[in-house]
Amino acid sequence: MTITRHPPVKTSLEPSNHPYLSGPWTPCHEEVDVDELEVIEGAIPDDIDGIYLRNTENPVHQPLGRHHPFDGDAMVHQVSISGGKASYRNRFIRTHCFTEEQIAGKSLWGGLMDPHGTSARPGYGAHEGLKDTGSTDIIVHAGTAYATFYQCGEAWMLDPVTLANKGKAPWGPVDGVSAHPKVDEATGEMMFFNYSKYAPYMHYGVVDREGNLAHYVPIPLPGPRLPHDMAITKNWSILNDMPLFWDANLLERNIHAARIHEGVPTRFALIPRHGAPEDIRWFEASPTYVLHWTNAYEVSGSDGDEVVLEGYYQDKPMPDPIEEAGEYSHMMAYVDEHSFQSRLHRWRFNLKTGETTEERLSDRIVEFGMINPDYLMQKSRYIWSTTTRPGWFLFNGYVRHDTETGGEQVYQLPEGVYASESPMVPRKGASSEDDGYLVTFLIDENTGTSQLAILDASDIAKGPICRAALPHKISSGVHTCWVEHSQLAADAEFKRKAQAA
Ligand SMILES: [Fe+2]
Repeated sequence: MTITRHPPVKTSLEPSNHPYLSGPWTPCHEEVDVDELEVIEGAIPDDIDGIYLRNTENPVHQPLGRHHPFDGDAMVHQVSISGGKASYRNRFIRTHCFTEEQIAGKSLWGGLMDPHGTSARPGYGAHEGLKDTGSTDIIVHAGTAYATFYQCGEAWMLDPVTLANKGKAPWGPVDGVSAHPKVDEATGEMMFFNYSKYAPYMHYGVVDREGNLAHYVPIPLPGPRLPHDMAITKNWSILNDMPLFWDANLLERNIHAARIHEGVPTRFALIPRHGAPEDIRWFEASPTYVLHWTNAYEVSGSDGDEVVLEGYYQDKPMPDPIEEAGEYSHMMAYVDEHSFQSRLHRWRFNLKTGETTEERLSDRIVEFGMINPDYLMQKSRYIWSTTTRPGWFLFNGYVRHDTETGGEQVYQLPEGVYASESPMVPRKGASSEDDGYLVTFLIDENTGTSQLAILDASDIAKGPICRAALPHKISSGVHTCWVEHSQLAADAEFKRKAQAA
């Protein structure tokens, strides 16, 4: 095992007992490369071959005001697995704001909980006062990794193999790019959206396999909204307008307070992948807020064609504050699944009648789910969700839902050990939908260490089948993705042919 340590970044962050700057959320400021991780339990499977990427909200500088976990700078942790061996590297994303703060040696932007005007420089995002961090999501499209920000910033490009920073996406529209673009590997297209305070309040776009903005249209909404995720089927893209959004009166005074608006339904915009605003089919549903969808697909039936959507319905989108958290009582509640109570749910949109039907798939409080990626946009049976420590944004286990039988399998991590969002990686030659693995990073507060861990997706209850030591303790983080080495090779070949043509 050879560890290469890179020159340290400038940091002004002081030790803190802030709930999201300490313990499993203690930022990691070291950038390293490790050629081969040491396996400390089991064996790394030799029937998966790809790259696991995780984005992390990992602050570098002392906050100007009150820190919110979504304010952190972006650090990407990467493991590449091939032939039963794993390498590791991690890098900060050099966004323009990160670079400006490196030059200044201190924070220049305030955070989500700070009054508008706290920032020393013009702000970004739908909120307009924030740092463009790129620290929410990560996805690989046509051989490039894109890191995106939930408030809509630039899409920051990285080489998924080397983690070399490639700057901002040249196709990025002026209104920014939200977290959670979606890729259709069959067509090589990436679908995305953004939102803002200005009419028409949302746009939707398609980037083709050559990295060109092939489609970009307005999605007119009644006012500023706070959508977080979108879904795709083979023919449709699904965007949403939910009743949790900024209070309009307070917004006039530049105060950004999310409120549930009583009597306002949830609405879904189904737009053909390359459709115009007039092609949108709107569907109403019961009021809620949804952070993440797990899958969507089309079905044909005697009652008409349907589009099916699955995700996590919040029973309490505006949660009660967690009073014992004092000045952080609202922030702690808004990042706690047990406070907003998210449960697996299915919506069916009947394209013939225009009606929506809904059903709850599980009573368990879960979020941050994954499916077998080979079943994206197809009817899928299994969903692997994460559970969290009550009161905290910390993943402490998994639930495997069988949506056909309603059966659930559960795995709870030991006390003080926390996981990351965990992509389901199908085994080479997989014989069934659940034949594969969950890949994750663990943060172990008991030992002050972190590990790569792999679980058997068909039998999560037995816990990790393999663990390999990381060279440093990493912070808990947010979204992840997996990309097959074979996909990267196919994308490189496509690019080579396109350039030769
Ligand atoms: Fe998200």
